[in-house]
Amino acid sequence: MRSLPTVALTADHVPEADAPARAIIAFAQSLDGYTEAGSPAEIKSWMDRVDADGPHALDLNSLRIALFGFQRAHYGQGGGWPDGDPVMDRMREITAAIREKVAEAPRLGVWLGDITQLQVSAVVNAANERMLGGGGVDGAIHQAAGPELREACERVPQVRPGVRCPAGEARVTLGFRLPARLVIHTVGPIWRGGGHGEDDLLASAYRSSLALAEVEEVASVAFPAISTGVYGFPPNRAARIAVDTVHQWLAEHDRPQRVVLVAFDADSQQTLNAALAERGD
Ligand code: APR
Repeated sequence: MRSLPTVALTADHVPEADAPARAIIAFAQSLDGYTEAGSPAEIKSWMDRVDADGPHALDLNSLRIALFGFQRAHYGQGGGWPDGDPVMDRMREITAAIREKVAEAPRLGVWLGDITQLQVSAVVNAANERMLGGGGVDGAIHQAAGPELREACERVPQVRPGVRCPAGEARVTLGFRLPARLVIHTVGPIWRGGGHGEDDLLASAYRSSLALAEVEEVASVAFPAISTGVYGFPPNRAARIAVDTVHQWLAEHDRPQRVVLVAFDADSQQTLNAALAERGD
C-alpha cells in the first residue's frame, strides 16, 4: 500500500537519503523569513541536486514558501516571476512534478510523527468538551499553537455550562503558530466498554471534522488517533472506524483532497496501516 507522500515540513522529518527534499525544505525554511538566503547560484545547485535525484514528495506549501520567498528576496515585493530565469523555471518544473506526484497519491494515508509538525491545511485536535486544552495531543497542539489558541477557544460559545464542543461534534479555530492554518477541535467518546454508542460517537467525531474541513475548503487535513489515548478506546477498533468513516466521506466528497491519519508511534502506525490494508488500500 503506497502511503501518502511525506508531508513533512522540517528537514528532520525527511529520511537522510532524501537529501534533495531536505535541501528544498531547508531552503524553504531559510526563506520563511524572506531573508536574502538562497542566491540564484545556491538555489540552482539545489535544483540540480533535486534534478539528479528526482523531485521527492514534499509538501507543496514548503515549496510555495520557497518560490514566494525567493521572489521577494530577489525580485522585491510583487516583483513577479521573470520569465526565462533558469532558476525560476526549474522551481516551476519541480513544483509541477511534485504536484503531479501528490495528485497521484491515494487521498487517504498514514504518517508517523508529531501532528504539530505537519504542514497540512488543518490539524484535528482530540479535545475535550471544555475545549480549553489538556494533555496528549490536545496539550501538544496548544503548546505549539501558542496562547492565542486558548484565547480563540474561550471565544467559542458554550452550548451548555462548561461544554463548547459536545462529544462527536467539531469546532474550528485558526492554527496560530502551528504550520497548519486551522485547528479542527473534535471530542471523541470516552471508552466505557463498547455498549454506550462509542463507535457511533467516534465515527461522528471524524465526520463532523471532515464536514468542517469541507466548509473551510481545506485541501489537506490530519487526524490524530482520536480517543485512543486518555479516552481509552481500543486502537484497532478505533482505526477501523477512522478508516471506514474517512473512506466513506472521500467517496462522496471532493474536499478535503487529502486526509492523513497520524500515528504517534510505530504500533499506532502498524494498526492504522493494517486497517487501511483491510480495506484493500
Ligand atoms: N501528534 C500526534 N499524535 C499524538 C500526539 C502528537 N503530538 N500526542 C499524542 N498523540 C496521540 C496519542 O498517542 C493517541 O494515539 O493522539 C492519540 C489520542 O490520544 P489523547 O491525546 O490522549 O486523546 P484522547 O484519547 O482523545 O483523549 C482526549 O485527553 O488530552 C486530553 O484534553 C484531552 O480530555 C481530552 C482527552
